[in-house]
Amino acid sequence: LAFAQDMVTVGSAWQNQRGSVMYIESVGPDGSFRGVFVNKAAGTYCQNTPYPMTGRTNQSALAFVVNWKNGTEDCKSITAWAGYISGGHMTTKWNLSVAGSTKPDQIMSGVDVFKPLAF
Ligand code: BTN
Repeated sequence: LAFAQDMVTVGSAWQNQRGSVMYIESVGPDGSFRGVFVNKAAGTYCQNTPYPMTGRTNQSALAFVVNWKNGTEDCKSITAWAGYISGGHMTTKWNLSVAGSTKPDQIMSGVDVFKPLAF
């Protein structure tokens, strides 16, 4: 059992299978963390500029959120990922909610697996 707080460290970066990268800029003693997320996923909006990300860890479990709004672009959407760290990888399921949605099936979802780029 890897503790996520031992892997999600300041200065670490994690890349998923879509090419997106999450950079960890600060971590708190309570298991909280902050950083930025650069989206590179084909067919999505708000690519290639950093968006603020906040998250939490509890033992091997973690979750984090990105509001797709920064000084460059506002995509009027939010993604939340929840998952775990095991075997050095971060496996997550995500939900993407777009403002204006009124039905559960309008919430997009998928799986992202992140691997460490640097420690
Ligand atoms: C949007 O298209 O409304 C904003 C960008 C969403 C990108 C999604 S978040 C889940 C999935 N994983 C990624 O790395 N990018 C896409």
